[in-house]
Amino acid sequence: MFITLEGPDGSGKSTQVAPLVEFLRQQGYSVLPTREPGGTVISDQVRNVLLNRPENSAMHPRTEILLFLASRAQLVEERIRPALLEGTIVLCDRYADSTLAYQGYGHGVDLDTLRSLLAFATGGLQPDLTILLDVSPEEGLRRRKKGGGEWNRLDAFALAFHERVRQGYLEMAHQQPGRWHIVDAHQSPDMVQSEIRQVVLSRLQPPAANRIL
Ligand code: TYD
Repeated sequence: MFITLEGPDGSGKSTQVAPLVEFLRQQGYSVLPTREPGGTVISDQVRNVLLNRPENSAMHPRTEILLFLASRAQLVEERIRPALLEGTIVLCDRYADSTLAYQGYGHGVDLDTLRSLLAFATGGLQPDLTILLDVSPEEGLRRRKKGGGEWNRLDAFALAFHERVRQGYLEMAHQQPGRWHIVDAHQSPDMVQSEIRQVVLSRLQPPAANRIL
């Protein structure tokens, strides 16, 4: 079972991964957590080029997209597919829908072009379940700024961008309701965790070791 966690910046995704993994392992499931961009030695190097280097600020949007996809292609083939073949639950913090939400809905890159690039990069691998942590851009920004900071023009730009990202996620979720589950991420982290656990458990078969034959 391939599960992805998606959501705008500040939605609290990353906080939810560790307790979910621990819970599923306690239930007897084998789980591989991973994150995007990154998750393999090669993908982590690409992540560095994408996110951690001020000297790369002039990166062209097409270069950026191809790097996100390069990181993902390696992650899919090196870790995700082999784990799924062994019956392990793969829990990925961001996946292809992040590219559609950020580069597509957020930056305005043509969605159909992105979809065909994504199909190539992932070899067509789609999640079985995608959990969307939905949060307003204002709340997301407030969390990221933790404890204040001056309001500035960049924040206004960021809010408009993150609103497009959020609406993009919601649109995708409504288009494929069988794959997506929307969680209201304005709730406390504990409430969000318990809702995620419920939806994940409802989709899983009992762990192999516990199955009565
Ligand atoms: P990261 O530090 O992992 O943030 P988060 O904890 O919110 O996931 O940074 C990932 C950033 O990269 C985030 O702002 C979303 C963005 N991103 C894209 O724009 N496109 C993509 O395909 C992916 C995977 C991430």
